[in-house]
Amino acid sequence: MDYQNILVRYEDNIAIVTINREKALNALNRRTFAELRHFFSEGAEKNIIGVIVTGAGEKAFVAGADIKEFDGLDQESAAQLSRNGQEVFLSIERYDKPVIAAVNGFALGGGCELAMACHMRVAGGKARFGQPEVNLGIIPGYGGTQRLVQLIGKGKALELLMTADMIKADEAHRLGLANHVVEPGEEVAKAKEILLKIGTKAPVAVAKIIECVNAYFEPLVNGIEYEINAFGETANTEDFKEGAAAFVEKRKAEFKGR
Ligand code: COA
Repeated sequence: MDYQNILVRYEDNIAIVTINREKALNALNRRTFAELRHFFSEGAEKNIIGVIVTGAGEKAFVAGADIKEFDGLDQESAAQLSRNGQEVFLSIERYDKPVIAAVNGFALGGGCELAMACHMRVAGGKARFGQPEVNLGIIPGYGGTQRLVQLIGKGKALELLMTADMIKADEAHRLGLANHVVEPGEEVAKAKEILLKIGTKAPVAVAKIIECVNAYFEPLVNGIEYEINAFGETANTEDFKEGAAAFVEKRKAEFKGR
C-alpha cells in the first residue's frame, strides 16, 4: 500500500510510524485508519523489536478523529465508522510486538484512544490528553470509554469523559495514563530506549506477555488458564533453553525468537 498519511521509518530495528497530517493536527481520517490497518496487519518489516507511534510536528500527537469527515453521518454509518476504528486499534493492542505511543502534543479524542491502544505511553512535556467528544454531542467511539477505565479507574475516567477536561503530561503520569514524562522532543528517544531494552529479551515471551495481559481484559477469557497455556508455550521454545543455559553459564543469552 502506498502510504500518504503515515510516514514509516526504521531505526535500530524499530519501526517509527508518524501520523503525518500536521495541518489538520494529525486528525485521523478514513485514509489514515486504512494505512494504520495495513501497517499493523502486513506492512511492517517482520523482524522488528517493536513500533513507536508519534505525530508530525510539535503541536499534536493526534487531535482526534477528523471532524470534517463527520458531515452526513447517520446512526448506521457512525456505528460503522466506530467499528472500523475499533478494529484498527484492536490490531494495535493485539500486535505481537510492543507498541509505544510517543505523545508529543495534543492527544485528544481518537488521539487519546490511539495512545491508549498502544501498550505504553511516553508523554512529552507539551502533551495534553483528553476525550472532548461530549463537546460535539457524541461519545468516544474508538475504545475510549473502555481503555480509559482500564488505565486510570472508573471515577477519574468518568470525570474526564463527562467534563471533556484536558490534562497535562504530569497529571497523565500521576493517573497512570502516561508511563513516563520527558522533555518536549525526547518522546521518541525514550520510547526507543524502552524498546531496545525489550529487544534484549526473548521475543516469544514478550509476545505472550502482551497476549496474557490483554486476556485480563477479555470478559470471556480466563486469564489464569490463558497464562498457564502461554507459560507452557514459552517453555517449549529454544529461547527458554538458551535463557536458562545462559544463566547457569553466567553469560548473556542470545535469543532467536523461536
Ligand atoms: N479534525 C479535523 N481537523 C482538525 C481537528 C480534528 N479533530 N483538530 C484540529 N483540526 C484542524 C483545524 O480545523 C484547523 O484547520 P484549519 O487551519 O483548516 O482551520 C487546524 O487543525 C488547526 O487547529 P486549530 O483549532 O486552529 O488549532 P488551535 O491551536 O486553535 O486548537 C485544538 C487546537 C486541538 C485545541 C483544537 O484544534 C481542537 O479542539 N480540535 C478538536 C479536538 C477534538 O474535539 N477531538 C475529538 C474529535 S471526535
